[in-house]
This record gives sequence, C-alpha cells and structure tokens, in this order.
Amino acid sequence: MKTADKLNIIIAGTGYVGLTTGLALGYLGHNVTCVDNNTALIDKLERGISTIFEPGLEELLRDNSDDVSFTEELFEDLPRADIVIIAVGTPSKKNGDTDLSFVEAVARNIGAAMNTEHPPVIINKSTVPIGTARRVETVIKEVLERRGAACSFCVASNPEFLREGAALHDTFYPDRIVVGTEDVQALNLIRQMYAPILEQTFTPPQAVPRPEGYSLPALVTTSPTSAELIKYTANAFLATKISFINEFAAIAEKVGADINEVAKGIGLDKRIGPGFLKAGVGWGGSCFPKDVRSILFTSSQYNCELQLVQAALEVNRRQRKKVIEKLQQTLKVIRGSTIGLLGLAFKPNTDDIRESPAIDVIQELLDMGARVKVYDPIAREKYKLAYPEQNIVYCNSAAEAAQESDAVVLLTDWDEFWHLPWEKIGDSMSQKIIVDGRNMLNSDELRQLGFTYTGIGR
Ligand SMILES: NC(=O)c1ccc[n+]([C@@H]2O[C@H](COP(=O)([O-])OP(=O)(O)OC[C@H]3O[C@@H](n4cnc5c(N)ncnc54)[C@H](O)[C@@H]3O)[C@@H](O)[C@H]2O)c1
Repeated sequence: MKTADKLNIIIAGTGYVGLTTGLALGYLGHNVTCVDNNTALIDKLERGISTIFEPGLEELLRDNSDDVSFTEELFEDLPRADIVIIAVGTPSKKNGDTDLSFVEAVARNIGAAMNTEHPPVIINKSTVPIGTARRVETVIKEVLERRGAACSFCVASNPEFLREGAALHDTFYPDRIVVGTEDVQALNLIRQMYAPILEQTFTPPQAVPRPEGYSLPALVTTSPTSAELIKYTANAFLATKISFINEFAAIAEKVGADINEVAKGIGLDKRIGPGFLKAGVGWGGSCFPKDVRSILFTSSQYNCELQLVQAALEVNRRQRKKVIEKLQQTLKVIRGSTIGLLGLAFKPNTDDIRESPAIDVIQELLDMGARVKVYDPIAREKYKLAYPEQNIVYCNSAAEAAQESDAVVLLTDWDEFWHLPWEKIGDSMSQKIIVDGRNMLNSDELRQLGFTYTGIGR
C-alpha cells in the first residue's frame, strides 16, 4: 500500500545509507532517483543487483523497480526535485578532520543545475562536522552566483542513525528522526517525506516486519548545529560505552570475574540499559572510528578537550591487541603457526569491512610470521578486493579455516558461529586453542571438549 503524498526525491550517494534510504522512500510511495558517480555500482543496481549485503535489501530492490531509478546524472531530475538528500561518504583525513570533498562536489553539482523557480530542500544526511549545513549553502550560492542566478533555499541537517546489518529495519522503524532547520516550510516538507514512518501508515514490507510493540518514533526538531552535534554525540557515547565495558573486562580478568555476567548485571538497570555492553575485540566499521576522530578534531579546534572520548579511542586501540596477547599466552610462539580466523566484517549481517578489527589482527599476525586462514560468510570478496597485498588463505567454511590450525580466533559474531560442530573441528586442528574475540561461544562446553578457551574478560 502506498500512502505518502508523492515527492520527487534525489539521493546523491548510493552507498549503505543512500541505497537503504532511497529504497525505503520509494517503497513508501515517493518518486526516488538514486545518483552515484560510481558507474559500476549504478550499472549493477540498474540490473537489479544489490551492491551491498543488507537483510531485506534484495527483495526491496526487486519489488521497487517502478518507484526508484538509478543514474550517474544528478542534473537530469534536479529541476523537478522537491528534496535532494546528500548521502555521500565523509571519510577521515589523516589529521582526524572530516574530508568534505564529496559533500562539496555534490553541492557544486546542485548549484549548477538547480531550478531557481522550484529550489529543492537540501538535506545533509551524511555525517558532517558542525557548520556543514551552512557550508553547503555557501557552496551552492557561489555556483548560483557564477550562473548569474539566485534564489532562497534551505539546507537542513537530518543525521542518519541506521545500523548496518539492520539498516532497513532502522529506516522503517527508527527510534527518532532528527531534523535540524529553522525554516518552517522546509521542515514541513521533510515531515511530509517521513509521514508514513512517523505515523506508521504503511504496510510493512514482507522482509522487514514491524517489530512487536513498536511505538511511533519521535520527530526531534532542532537547529542545524544541534542536529549535527547530536549525531557525533550519539556515536561518541556508544563507542565510549563499548570501551567502558572493555576496560572493565580487563579488571574482570584480573579478579576472576566474568564480564558477560557483569554486563548482564548492570545492563538490567534501566538507567544503563543492556545495549553496547558486549566486551570484545572493540569497535570498528565505517562510522564510530571516523566520527570519534572527527569530534575529537572539532573539540581540539575549540580548545575543548573531550577526555572521555579520547580515552575510549585509546581503549579501543588497546583492545585490538588483546587477541594477539591471548594467542601469545596460550600458543606461546606465533611465528610459524597457522591461525584460523573467523569473521572479516566489522560486525555480523553486513559485508562492510571498513576499519574492521580483522584488518589489524591479520596484519599483526602476518607481521609476526603466522600463516593466516580466514573465513567470513559474506565479506570475503570485499576484503579480498580491499587488501590484495595481505597474503592469506581464503576458506569456504569455518571448519576449513580451522583445519590444521594451531588456534582459531573468532572476530565477528555471525549467527552461524553459534552452531559450529566444535568436536569435529577440534579433531581436525593441530592444537585445540580458541580465542573468542566476541565472547560468544560456550566456554564450558568447549573446555569439556578439550579446547583451551580464552575470551575477553572471562
Ligand atoms: N554506513 C552507515 O552505517 C552509516 C550510518 C549513519 C550515517 N552514515 C553516514 O552516511 C554517509 C554515507 O555513508 P555510507 O556508509 O553510505 O557511505 P558509502 O561509502 O557506502 O557510500 C557513499 C557513496 O557516495 C558516492 N559518491 C561519492 N561522491 C559522489 C558524488 N560526487 N556524486 C554522487 N555520488 C558520490 C560513492 O560512490 C559511494 O557509493 C557518511 O557520512 C556516513 O558517516 C553511515
């Protein structure tokens, strides 16, 4: 059932955020054009092939072909657009600052082709530093001036909070939608765009059912600056929460406690909450590391040190070394050993390997002279493409990665790792050592099977 008042929406940048948002808005009844300057990506999407792994995405791509189109050309549909959403990447520069070159390139393209009789509302959905809404406005105005054109238009901030692996779920059923603008007309149009989500008037796609007990999301309206800061504050908080439990994992190990039990014990306190309290090899991915670096950079510019966030980053760096230390404690000598590594993606249900702990762990093991065999259910091809220089053996199953290995290291908590035939796997290994970087395996069971099991903080 299509319920939205149809808007013409252009999404610039068709990656994890742009593709998910575009398909969801198309499903809700809007007319969506997804733009990307990556020819191969657009070519695949035009043929109905998803470019990322994300639960439910293939189905939506297939069922949505009339409402969502894909193109490399921003200019074609821009004159008719009601809303342009910027969803391009905002990677880190070497100094931690955010590289806004992709955002500014899109802004220049918008300025070059914008219909001044019908200017669209422009939305920054990319995670961008404080002041970027104004910066995008300035860049567009400069281009308009060069065209000898002028008009008034609005750039709003609408940060994205989706989690990879649950991206469609989070888009259809968010906790809140944050819109930063002081322009009432723009706010109304954005509210119209999100109306089916805010009011939950749509029939859920089969692949993305509405969660039981889900209540309507809040629309949080703020200034653009507050909206920009909300995104960084949220990610810095979540990253700090993980680093916090990881710091306590270290003391749990010293005193003989189990950090999983500790996390459960504190997480049931409603003031704390159970999320993001899983001790392990630390956070990675395309957002936390770069967003933490970015807000630290901003804070240094304002001479306003964020000590807690800085510490969270340090703890996270340390955490990645833990699995190597644990291998040294159990295996003793790493040079010449074969290590079977389970999981390349930075978390389960995604093929995203950006800043995944696996990258550092594999490199460290290779530097130390180990032979490394890896298995990941989904992320293997992306990893292979991104790190062709790493001399590793790609396997087709966890059992194959473990075979004749001296130790198995688990780095991503994919569901299928819950149910591995450990007895059989153990028989095929050279030494029965497991380092569980996600604390997901049943330590008692594995010890009974004769494994030397080490987790993080257990
Ligand atoms: N991935 C997430 O989980 C997530 C969650 C919340 C917010 N964000 C933020 O959203 C933004 C996008 O993240 P992503 O993970 O989707 O990135 P991505 O790298 O997956 O996708 C970005 C896309 O933009 C395209 N692009 C670059 N320059 C372009 C241009 N000039 N014109 C058209 N397309 C262009 C790239 O080809 C790429 O396909 C980032 O700022 C990120 O921090 C990401």
